[in-house]
Amino acid sequence: MEIRAVAGDITKIKAGAIVVNLFEGMERLDGDIANIDKALDGAISQLISQGEIKGKLNEVTIVHSLGKLPATRVVVAGLGKQQELTQDRVRGVMAETCRLLQQKGVDSMATIAQGAEIANITVEGAAQAVTEGALLGVYSFRRHITKEAEHGEIKQLLIVGSDETKLPILEQGCYKGRVLAEATNLARDMVNEPANYMTPKHMADMAAKLAETYGLELSVLEREQMQELGMGALLGVAQGSRQPPKFIVLHYRGSDSTEIDVALVGKGVTFDSGGISIKPSEKMDEMKGDMAGGAAVMAAISAIAQLKPKINVMAVIPATENLPGDSALKPGDILTAMNGKTIEIISTDAEGRLILADALGYAKKLGAKLVVDVATLTGACRIALGDVCSGAFGNNQELIDKVIAAGTEAGELIWQMPMYEEYKEQNKSEVADIKNIGGKYGGAITAAQFIAEFAGDTPWVHLDIAGTSLSEKERTYRVKGATGVPVRTLVNLVLSLAKQ
Ligand code: BES
Ligand code: MN
Ligand code: ZN
Repeated sequence: MEIRAVAGDITKIKAGAIVVNLFEGMERLDGDIANIDKALDGAISQLISQGEIKGKLNEVTIVHSLGKLPATRVVVAGLGKQQELTQDRVRGVMAETCRLLQQKGVDSMATIAQGAEIANITVEGAAQAVTEGALLGVYSFRRHITKEAEHGEIKQLLIVGSDETKLPILEQGCYKGRVLAEATNLARDMVNEPANYMTPKHMADMAAKLAETYGLELSVLEREQMQELGMGALLGVAQGSRQPPKFIVLHYRGSDSTEIDVALVGKGVTFDSGGISIKPSEKMDEMKGDMAGGAAVMAAISAIAQLKPKINVMAVIPATENLPGDSALKPGDILTAMNGKTIEIISTDAEGRLILADALGYAKKLGAKLVVDVATLTGACRIALGDVCSGAFGNNQELIDKVIAAGTEAGELIWQMPMYEEYKEQNKSEVADIKNIGGKYGGAITAAQFIAEFAGDTPWVHLDIAGTSLSEKERTYRVKGATGVPVRTLVNLVLSLAKQ
């Protein structure tokens, strides 16, 4: 979809549809919608007085212009109560509108910067939200469907502003929105891709493509180098599979210093069968998405490379399968992580924290000043928070607050979980330094406490996205399947860190 900002009068635009807004409870029409209503001989005000259009959030009404306007259709998109409007609601309304128009076979549309200069939304923020909503909302994963789609795609979206002087601001919002949405859709594609395609090698190949396209530095460590570095925890997980593990490292250098300001670490288990501690077969297919954290950090660093903040960022993705092959890790085994700590394996299904232990070890060895890890880590987090928010854990409240704020801005909700010392008790082993599961209760927290041991005193936040990486149903721009969470949070975070 081509999305372009233009200056002009939306009522004069020739397109398959022009989209204007209505707030709930608004008595009098003014501005663009009033002019359009006049041109349509009062059709909109009549629909309003008859109660068919109420302006409720996500209410989308199509009115045909029958030649009274250059555009074929006028769409009235409800924004809900004016004082409750947020950027995220704009994303949602755009998603609903675009999907409906696409179903109707519309291939070109125009809209205003919805919500601009209302309820704390800037012109740039509105253009960004419109763009994100459109691109995220029409996303679908059809790579393996040989039958053609029932409808075509929207090819062009114009964002029309009446004030010529604000065109550069509209364009800026439009560009940022596109970068963020495309990165999110890239992560969605990777997560939706089945595990026979999305192997560790395929992830590494994708990293190579992204590195070339966006000018990132790439290194992929092979098993041998992992052995040299002493990554016993990651190698332990990888040993049950025929697919060789890949330790993927991408660098974005936006500042003159040589320091790594931020390390983004993402769990890259391309399929999690549980290993010898095998999972029940029901819904095991979902475990093709166990690399969602890795996909998110790869997509995020690609977006960062396009937005070019003055900061250095490293993405680290330990990628492996977790399978019960004949050389697989066994319960009772003891592994030595890169930082020298020994780990007693109680469940081979608690593999995420093992590969993260070595990824954090690597990030710390390289001197990363701050680490954020993202992982589909525990079913317990999904039970606790559902698919509405990701869980945040960490050792530095300031950084946790920044991550949560970055998430709010993105419409990717995050809830902080407790990290009381008392939980550490559950991870104590009698035969090694630590064991890899902490029992039945508080599973998301004990998993985070495990990782904390490897983060040490580096400021660190862990995001558990086990509940949020997939959506069982469509909700506005959050389509069914992979959500691409928390790509936009990570990018927002890095942009805000770069500003300080
Ligand atoms: N990848 C899973 C966690 C998961 C579960 C993600 C459901 C998404 C949806 C993780 O590797 C895992 O298996 N965790 C175990 C930990 C347990 C053995 C302590 C779990 O949550 O059951
Ligand atoms: Mn597992
Ligand atoms: Zn897993």
